[in-house]
Amino acid sequence: MRCSFSIFCVLGMIATARAAENPATAEYLRCEYRVNPLGIDVTQPRLSWEMHDGRRGAAQTAYQVLVASSPEKLAADQGDLWDSGKVASDQTSQIVYAGKPLQSRMRCHWKVRLWDAGGKPSPYSEAALWSMGLLKTEDVKAKWIGVQGSMIHPDKGPTDAKSKDVLGCPLFRKEFSVQKPIRRATVYASALGNYELSINGVRVAGGASNEYFNPGWTDYRKRVYYNTYDVTRLILDGGPNAIGAVLAAGWYAGAIGFKADRFIYGRDPRLFVQLELEAEDGSIQTIAADESWKTAWGPYIEGEFLAGETCDRRKEMPGWDKAGFDDSTWSPVAVTDRIQAQFQAFPADPVVITGSLHPIKITEQRPDVFIIDMGQNFAGSVCLRAKGPAGTKIVLRFAEMLNPDGSIYTTNLRGARATDTYIVGGKDNEFYWPQFTFHGFRYVEVTGYPGTPTKDDIAGIAINSDTPMVGSFECSSPMVNKLYSNICWTQRANFISIPTDCPQRDERMGWTGDAEVFCRAATYNADVASFFTKWLVDLEDAQQPDGGVTDVAPFVLNLGHGTAAWADAGTICPATISWVYNDKRLLEKHYGMMVRLVEYDRQHSKNLLRPAEGYGDWLSIKADTPKDVIGTAFFAESTHLTAQAARILGHQEDARKYQALWEEIKAAFNKAYVAPDGRIKGNTQTCYVMALYFNLLPEDKRPLAAKHLVEDIAARGGHLSTGFVGTSMLMPVLAQSGHQDVAYRLLLNETFPSWGYSIKHGATSIWERWDGWTADKGFQDPGMNSFAHYSFGAVARWMFQSVAGIDTDGPGYKRLLIRPQPAVGAGWQPAPLPQRGLSWVKASYRSLHGRIATEWKTEGGRFMLGVTIPANTIATVSLPAAGPERVREGERPAREAEGVKFLRTEPGRVLYAVRAGTYRFVVQ
Ligand code: BGC
Repeated sequence: MRCSFSIFCVLGMIATARAAENPATAEYLRCEYRVNPLGIDVTQPRLSWEMHDGRRGAAQTAYQVLVASSPEKLAADQGDLWDSGKVASDQTSQIVYAGKPLQSRMRCHWKVRLWDAGGKPSPYSEAALWSMGLLKTEDVKAKWIGVQGSMIHPDKGPTDAKSKDVLGCPLFRKEFSVQKPIRRATVYASALGNYELSINGVRVAGGASNEYFNPGWTDYRKRVYYNTYDVTRLILDGGPNAIGAVLAAGWYAGAIGFKADRFIYGRDPRLFVQLELEAEDGSIQTIAADESWKTAWGPYIEGEFLAGETCDRRKEMPGWDKAGFDDSTWSPVAVTDRIQAQFQAFPADPVVITGSLHPIKITEQRPDVFIIDMGQNFAGSVCLRAKGPAGTKIVLRFAEMLNPDGSIYTTNLRGARATDTYIVGGKDNEFYWPQFTFHGFRYVEVTGYPGTPTKDDIAGIAINSDTPMVGSFECSSPMVNKLYSNICWTQRANFISIPTDCPQRDERMGWTGDAEVFCRAATYNADVASFFTKWLVDLEDAQQPDGGVTDVAPFVLNLGHGTAAWADAGTICPATISWVYNDKRLLEKHYGMMVRLVEYDRQHSKNLLRPAEGYGDWLSIKADTPKDVIGTAFFAESTHLTAQAARILGHQEDARKYQALWEEIKAAFNKAYVAPDGRIKGNTQTCYVMALYFNLLPEDKRPLAAKHLVEDIAARGGHLSTGFVGTSMLMPVLAQSGHQDVAYRLLLNETFPSWGYSIKHGATSIWERWDGWTADKGFQDPGMNSFAHYSFGAVARWMFQSVAGIDTDGPGYKRLLIRPQPAVGAGWQPAPLPQRGLSWVKASYRSLHGRIATEWKTEGGRFMLGVTIPANTIATVSLPAAGPERVREGERPAREAEGVKFLRTEPGRVLYAVRAGTYRFVVQ
């Protein structure tokens, strides 16, 4: 790469003086990736912390973990469960608990101290906690209760044809009294379906407690999770108490998938509640769901994902979830003693409300029909305030786009009714927001509102799995900033219990190809460690006996398995997640899935070439990549990743075997598809991108393939043609092959097809198709046209790695690679553009080891980089500059600067080893 700044480059560095005396601390203590998780069932959980220390070169030289059975013991520095002693190690994550065996319900209080680079101990951290769940079968006492008969609300009035079967959400209640003064109350709750739970009228899960759709989506025939809550503060010591619950059909029995089929996993939703009151003397009183509970139909006439929710406030029963309520008219429950599926602790982050949105515009589209523009495509619902006579019916319909006449565009929702109906109870200022449904939308159509809704009467509620946001990206292009915002919103809209394809139409499934192409980008935006830990179990649960990984997971319907680029989620996702979070245990857990997939591919290939089957490079633009080429390329990659995993896990024989197989597949690929001039069968951008990214070509063919790729882009007037498969690798390949200028051109394009085209036309999310809407053709085929599909948002990965320059150089961001690549390239000269690159970029990523930040700008022929390397990590910083001979920090050669050591030069770049700290480099 050539340096565009000046003929000779001088590198200067100005140390940002940081307080040298900063004491080191251990912060952000987590257990199995979560802060203070309750009710886990991992018996050797892994602990982690971040070392915070602003000093240059800050590093941990040793640590000591204390785990105690009570807060008092921990405060007295007694690790009665585990005292690791002083361990000489720089490890801060994946520390395996190695103390006394952990039993059901145990509470484990822990803290850690560390020794800094100079060998000085830090103070102990703040105390953290995890608790154990129900580890033995005999710990499970509650039964599974539901309604006798169907889940159709008996008071359901006449409704339109589409909605006629929509299931309702019954209420359950139980009163109990407390036998002895308690020191702790814990509730374990679950459902075949989704539940909302309250104690003495206070929400524990669902509704105001902020959590939605517990216990999450799994293949309920195989695995059902329970959630654990500490409810000590909700229990009234003297006097009667009550548990209330609402049960919805959810993913279990409600309509899901693109056939909108019901009863995929079972017909009869069930609720599980086990409340344990631990007395001061250690004895436990258990209140468990059983025959003595009662049920009634309340206000939730309908509640399903695709159809929406109907709530009749007139049917509310004040006090139903508190003690003293007269439930004599309530019915007995149906009881199932136990379920066949594995019953396990929920291992991930629940779905929660993650934001609220204020409407930007309200229009009266026709009399009594208002269109509310929330200004953002997102997933969730709205909270509506209304005051009107009892029985007033307000209907809310949701849409992503508007028709030319200003009405909502709902044809792309296909069979999803996506309608919430709210029947006013007649009280002052009623608030309504649904509990058992969500929609993917930007616009809400409100019909029947009593009066004229104002912007203060309606608020958007964004929900998604509570994956902490860890990335930020800003740059000199407002369009690219919008693109980044659109990517994050679309990730949020689709990370709802599982990674889905889209949140709006009758689909919303865990399409494996989508997760596969987006997963690495997703890690930059949010901490998805526990989210993918859970979903990879869903994926393996869905794997077919012949080894084929399915097109969707959890299983919904038999769509297919072993499909190229979709099934490969079975290797690519575990490899990616274990790489980003240095999680060998996860790799080991899913190693079997990886091997079985490779063997499936081997079985289903001829002379190591896969058949021309599958979805191909889904939604590419006028460029059909041959399916056998895609299949064989992914077969090679899955084999390569499996060989790598075998090496990491120490399975030497497998490592050799799959390495050899990889070589053979590559040879077969080259023989069958690659011509002497480097042309690949199909001659599409995706062909070259795959071959280069998966390293399938011999050295001499690589530049040729890159040349064909760049020529194809040029021949299309500087446009991409890639679909789901190619787009995720396109920009990284351009960057790696010395064509970052072409990548910038694609990034900054506003003509069709490009990311910028959608943004120019008002996109607030990532569209499923490049041509979801075009100026000349309008909307694409409504049969498949979502405006919130994250696959093309996979570009975020390159934005972080090659634009901001934040990458890991080994597993888990312990060694970093800081390699910003401003828009300089070689080879093909792009057509004149108003802007050939970006003039500044500012990004950060909170990694497993803490916050990494870069900030660069080009100004007056200089390139300036500010970089923060977190404590206890080291980085290779690669700058766009010629040799090191003119490198200066002030007047001293940079190789002598504190925390910085010259490593080597590469064509057009100079590399330094940089220790923890904050630095500023100047290239002149
Ligand atoms: C989904 C996709 C999925 C594809 C398979 C679509 O209907 O929305 O995102 O990957 O089917 O080709």
